[in-house]
Amino acid sequence: MDKLRITGGSPLNGEISISGAKNAALPILCAGLLTADTISLSNVPKLNDIATTLKLLSQMGVRCDRSQDNAVSITADQVTTLEAPYELVKTMRASILVLGPLLARFGEARVSLPGGCAIGQRPVDQHIQGLAALGADIKIEHGFVVARAKRLKGAVVRTDMVTVTGTENLMMAAVLAEGQTVLENAAREPEVVDLAELLIKMGAKIKGHGTDRIVIEGVDKLHGASHRVCPDRIEAGSFLCAVGAAGGSIVLRDVAPDTMGATISKLQEAGIKIECGSDWIKAGMTGRPRAVDVRTQEYPGFATDMQAQLMALDAIADGTSVIVETIFENRYMHVQELIRLGANIDIDGHTAVVRGVTRLSGATVMATDLRASASLVIAGLAAEGETIVERIYHLDRGYEKMEHKLRLLGANIERITS
Ligand code: EPZ
Repeated sequence: MDKLRITGGSPLNGEISISGAKNAALPILCAGLLTADTISLSNVPKLNDIATTLKLLSQMGVRCDRSQDNAVSITADQVTTLEAPYELVKTMRASILVLGPLLARFGEARVSLPGGCAIGQRPVDQHIQGLAALGADIKIEHGFVVARAKRLKGAVVRTDMVTVTGTENLMMAAVLAEGQTVLENAAREPEVVDLAELLIKMGAKIKGHGTDRIVIEGVDKLHGASHRVCPDRIEAGSFLCAVGAAGGSIVLRDVAPDTMGATISKLQEAGIKIECGSDWIKAGMTGRPRAVDVRTQEYPGFATDMQAQLMALDAIADGTSVIVETIFENRYMHVQELIRLGANIDIDGHTAVVRGVTRLSGATVMATDLRASASLVIAGLAAEGETIVERIYHLDRGYEKMEHKLRLLGANIERITS
């Protein structure tokens, strides 16, 4: 398994491009199942999760063509199976996103239950209840979600909590349903909006995306479209935390600052000087960050996907900070590893109290999940001496060539391929 070797102490300087958003690309690829025409996508990040999704779609008979320049085309004109097998779904729970499109277009789907993951149990009960509300005959059999529907029927669907992929699954199911569907308590994430924009280009009738009430008028058929995947606001936020920890001055290109309000204001509070244009962010940091408190919330609040990265910054900040993770029940797997680097953190349920230390010291640490990996890399950039981050296959799921981009910015970091 690959590792990263980081020697801390080098400030970051220079300019990099941010990749397309993993969490937009994943549902967008699955939306290709909704038509026999070709969907042509650009700015699709080269990530393991994307590769897994393309493998899953190909196994279903979907033609997936990936060119060198982050372009992907999807043609689902010869789908041969309506099943998403456990072997693939267990490696990437976002595979559940084929459920809605398969049901909407083919009236049938058999998708393995994803199972939990390091950050939490992550059930899909809201996906199932929502599809049942749209008229699907849906049940769990031998670890699979088995769903059938002659044609889904529009309805008002209110999820018990805000669920990003739940909203995406239900939106993709509703676009071909008969009549009107209203999704209440819908997720407002920019990645949900990006999916809706693609669906509208494909002929779907959607209003209210980006708000907590999405109204969909079902249509009989969707057609092909072209779409550029939106920028990855979490990758961009991770690099902002990195310059906050390591110091220096960087420019991020191909970003959407207007989707990063909560992150930008929190990092400015921590002392990072941030300037934004329409598609770029300039960030500079000298001296020690200030400790900042945060409560993770659904968009437009501070993203749970940014919590671990901010904690790495707070670990070396001047002062004590309180972090509350309100979305997932077990998203503090990075804490024990940060403590190995010398951080002073106490966990009490969903709350972490971080007492900033002046210096972290390099050590061998183990990545446990995607954003925890980013947190450990950020901490390693600031730590004295050498840090080895093990099991970085977690990192490769969601960050395109992270060590390459950091090296471009002057970091002393290399991948050790075993
Ligand atoms: C999406 O996961 C993202 N993944 C996650 O990003 C992100 O952390 C999460 O949204 C929250 O923003 C993708 O978009 C592929 P949820 P998702 O459904 O949709 C509970 C990353 O790092 N819930 O919004 O699975 C759930 O347990 C990943 O890129 C139910 O109880 O998250 C959680 O506590 C990690 N039943 C809360 O809702 C359900 O049916 C929010 O989950 C669905 C969710």
